[in-house]
Amino acid sequence: MPHPLEELRDSALREIDSAIDEKALDAVRVRYLGRSGSISSWGEQMKALAKEEKPVIGKLLNEVRNAVTAAIETRNAQFRLQKDSGALAKIDISLPGATGPTGGYSGYSGQPVPLTGYSGYSGYLPLERGSLHPLTQMWERSIEIFRRMGFALADGPDIEDESHCFDALNTPPEHPARNEQDTFYLPDGRLLRTHTSTVQIRTMEAAPPPIRVIAPGAAYRRDELDATHSPQFHQIEGLYVDENVSVADLKGTLEFFMRELFGSGTEVQFRPHYFPFTEPSLEVYVKSKALKGGEQWIEVAGSGVVHPAVFEAVNKARGDKAYDPDKWSGYAFGLGMDRLAMILFDIPDIRLFAQNDLRFLRQFA
Ligand code: PHE
Repeated sequence: MPHPLEELRDSALREIDSAIDEKALDAVRVRYLGRSGSISSWGEQMKALAKEEKPVIGKLLNEVRNAVTAAIETRNAQFRLQKDSGALAKIDISLPGATGPTGGYSGYSGQPVPLTGYSGYSGYLPLERGSLHPLTQMWERSIEIFRRMGFALADGPDIEDESHCFDALNTPPEHPARNEQDTFYLPDGRLLRTHTSTVQIRTMEAAPPPIRVIAPGAAYRRDELDATHSPQFHQIEGLYVDENVSVADLKGTLEFFMRELFGSGTEVQFRPHYFPFTEPSLEVYVKSKALKGGEQWIEVAGSGVVHPAVFEAVNKARGDKAYDPDKWSGYAFGLGMDRLAMILFDIPDIRLFAQNDLRFLRQFA
């Protein structure tokens, strides 16, 4: 047999559950927990109880009171939530703002000013909707394509050490890329990474194979700024390490990527090249009739099969043999994002990306 207090609790919980609004809920609260409510009145009845019964019933009374109080709070929160979402549903958050200050006008009162009938009024203009920078759009498109092929995202710092930027990538001390004329060095010997290939090393140091990652990010070289060179540019690095990875896998992946990006008629060409950290190394060129200047081969990436010396450098840093070059093989690539965006959007000058000229940026909204 349940104790009468437990029966009170159960009927209170049922009524709380079926209360249709805040008013009905408050009536339930008064009936059970108000000054002369049926649960509260048990506090009085306690006095009449036998000495050994008091602690037992006292404990039960507390539990019942807490359970009913908590249920009322929960139900109240539900009502508040319903009200809030009801109010929000009436607001169209995609509407452009009605008014806003153009800046510098000290009389701005914060009051919306209706635009109709205010022609010639120059203190306020409609708030404008923002849009994504063309490089960001390019990045999002590219990442989406690689994600469909099972690549995960990786990243690393822009300020790097020589070990991650050069040594571990099989680039000897006398290599011209390490020159102060080509690379931005910090006074403490660190540097701004000259390519995103640093993330290859960081990823392999952190996790054993298999690996399938892309790493979008900025890279820096001491180039003179002109229409096609910028001291800060952007790349997507790719790294795939598994058993029996070959140049065929690399070619298939990059061909698929370029065709998704530039259309199925896109031709992709691989030309022999040299990078210290890949062997063989290949430069990637594209040509597509869908693009402006479509009869021309354009270089868009460096790539190749990961050099065993890179695996050995990673093993040394890890202190194990996780990247045994006899067991694992891989490919890597570095895509020039600025170049890809310039081709896709027919942008003639790399400097436009950083000038924040609204006449330029608006064309990509
Ligand atoms: N890091 C090279 C560059 O910036 C590109 C590259 C990446 C080449 C990966 C091969 C493999 O030019």
